[in-house]
Amino acid sequence: MPDFHRLDDKNVLITGGADGIGLALAEAFAAGGARLFLADIAAEKLAASASKLSAASAPCDVTDPEAVERVVDRAWEEIGPIDLLCANAGVATSGSVLDASPEDIAFLFGVNVWGILNAVRPFVKRLRNTGRPGHILMTGSETSLSTPSYLKTLPTHLYSMTKHAVLSMGDSLRNELAAESIGVSVLCPGPVATNLSENSGAFRPERFGSATSFDMSAVSPEVLAHIGSLSKPAGEAAALALEGLRRELFVIPTHPHIRDDATARFREIERGFDQL
Ligand SMILES: NC(=O)c1ccc[n+]([C@@H]2O[C@H](COP(=O)([O-])OP(=O)(O)OC[C@H]3O[C@@H](n4cnc5c(N)ncnc54)[C@H](O)[C@@H]3O)[C@@H](O)[C@H]2O)c1
Repeated sequence: MPDFHRLDDKNVLITGGADGIGLALAEAFAAGGARLFLADIAAEKLAASASKLSAASAPCDVTDPEAVERVVDRAWEEIGPIDLLCANAGVATSGSVLDASPEDIAFLFGVNVWGILNAVRPFVKRLRNTGRPGHILMTGSETSLSTPSYLKTLPTHLYSMTKHAVLSMGDSLRNELAAESIGVSVLCPGPVATNLSENSGAFRPERFGSATSFDMSAVSPEVLAHIGSLSKPAGEAAALALEGLRRELFVIPTHPHIRDDATARFREIERGFDQL
């Protein structure tokens, strides 16, 4: 995999690069001298963010495989062979597994899971055609690893399902690509201060209908305050992502509390072995 201690010889393509963690990743790579191509569905915000960083950009909906392939091709032509794909675009809507509408299911899986694969496929095709090494950083979540205890009462379980799928996709891909100098990492952030909920409503493609509203009355003010207290700035999450790439990590966690939740999951698996 490429060595990310040096960035001034790297070309980086970031989906969901107009805002939040994607933009913070772009800022971190730009600070190290990398050349950037940003893609996002939010065209105006994308143009403003790209211009601030002197990055190339193109609006794109990651749920459209052909549009994403065109963006990968365009990035390759405009800034040169891409060393790192940050497949970061994501959405969150409340969604209970039992009550979610088919549109919400299609939307969340369409962006968070298939949106990543839509970018990975043409990226890997390009790398294979040119025989170059490369790396894929996909943005999962702490909910890729477990259901954090404080999220158990929040109706975000459908989102958690998509993020578990991201971990599985990353794991599958690293095995499929093991012999080809193409690496995979899964960024697993805890709460990060971004406009994720607002953006997910504002930039939802029409074909996915409108979001179902969910009863939040079971969520206590203490839980909401706890999430606020855990929240980190996007820049910190991006700095940890870069450090994780430098250390060649597969799972890149961003918050210490994730260890307790992931350990609880592991203990539950162990309990099955202990008792049977
Ligand atoms: N903020 C958190 O607490 C948190 C925690 C864990 C994981 N994440 C993940 O981090 C990633 C980035 O989210 P964020 O928190 O920075 O929120 P954000 O809304 O600031 O960033 C997501 C970006 O993706 C773009 N996007 C949405 N749908 C798209 C589509 N169909 N095609 C192309 N671009 C699209 C949005 O316009 C936005 O710029 C997501 O995958 C999210 O699930 C966020």
